[in-house]
Amino acid sequence: MTVLVTGGAGFIGSAFVRMLAAQTDWRVVNLDKLTYAGNLENLTALAENPLYRFVHGDICDERLVLALVSEEKPDAIVHFAAESHVDRSILSPEPVVHTNLHGTFVLLEAARRLRIPRFVHVSTDEVYGSLEAPLEATEQFPLVPSSPYSASKAGSDLLVRSYFVTYKLPVLITRASNNYGPYQFPEKLIPLMIANALDNKPLPVYGDGQQVRDWLYVEDHCRGILAVLRQGRDGEIYNIGGNRSLPNLEVVRRVLELTGKPASLLQFVTDRPGHDRRYALSSEKLMQETGWRPLVDFESGLTQTIDWYRDHALWVAHVRSGEYRSYYERNYGGRELAASEPRP
Ligand code: NAD
Ligand code: DAU
Repeated sequence: MTVLVTGGAGFIGSAFVRMLAAQTDWRVVNLDKLTYAGNLENLTALAENPLYRFVHGDICDERLVLALVSEEKPDAIVHFAAESHVDRSILSPEPVVHTNLHGTFVLLEAARRLRIPRFVHVSTDEVYGSLEAPLEATEQFPLVPSSPYSASKAGSDLLVRSYFVTYKLPVLITRASNNYGPYQFPEKLIPLMIANALDNKPLPVYGDGQQVRDWLYVEDHCRGILAVLRQGRDGEIYNIGGNRSLPNLEVVRRVLELTGKPASLLQFVTDRPGHDRRYALSSEKLMQETGWRPLVDFESGLTQTIDWYRDHALWVAHVRSGEYRSYYERNYGGRELAASEPRP
């Protein structure tokens, strides 16, 4: 079995590649452009593995993608590659729309032409938009995306579905909640707060910090994707959630507690435009059909993650050099600070 993974040098993709290398005898081909978020240091353990091949390239490059898919004739494509950060999509939507929509189209076309028997599209719960409590999105919920990122993912989901309906391409779509764990680029909430806390830098909380997210440990997500790849039904969508909803402020306070840093590092800053208030989703379908369930509870997952960042100071220093600094200035430099916790 050969699996073509796109975006396998990123946070979740690299965890998936490491999982396949550890748990299967499959050949894994990893196509990645190595954007700011792609990092071969996430995959050093595989460098000498004869069942692993890395290809440096862009999923939007039609010739390269078609040549690679023709050469490898993979039994499955698992598509992670994306511009994945909401704040960056607000600052610069163009690369997000290009990669997430056009890149997905290019892969679908190659899969259609070469009749690839399995195409797993890795998507997000953000496509369901903000939900009032106590609603939990099932796979039938309408798509109401708010940011250029989530709109591009919703658009790519619809395109993927259209290839099933129109061309009978055997596609599957997964929609996961907020991931956390080792190797996550420190632009997303948890790794950014950990990295800043360990450095005694301010922890910037958007708005009142009462936005709710569901937290999923990255390995639980990867096990869910593998379950879908192995057991999912063609044309179906599967939610993958951690079943652990928390307001952002509580997450940030736990990071401060577990790193032993003072609450004075908390800093309330201007909110994200179009900020979704609450995500929540039901993973009932995946659990019923495959027996999957999340295994890592938030407390131990967060502790393990903090330990990993403490032990990988060099990795953090590398990814925070260069481009990261100008991004940080663009995203956080212009935000006003609130003197204290904003009132609801
Ligand atoms: P990431 O930003 O850490 O990694 C993205 C990877 O894709 C990087 O290695 C990057 O180099 C690569 N890439 C980007 N553009 C490319 C292109 N044009 N061609 C080839 N490679 C390219 O992202 P992540 O957090 O690991 O997310 C992976 C996937 O999972 C994305 O599709 C994202 O939408 C989805 N997802 C993420 C989360 C989350 O919480 N992070 C939750 C649900 C779904
Ligand atoms: O829900 C799944 C999605 O989760 C994925 O599809 C995305 O790829 C991933 O980036 C993530 O999106 P979010 O916007 O929810 O994640 P982020 O880590 O950027 O933010 C989580 C929450 O924390 C959100 O309410 C915004 C808030 N936040 C974030 C940052 C970076 C802050 O308050 N301060 C910050 O500095």
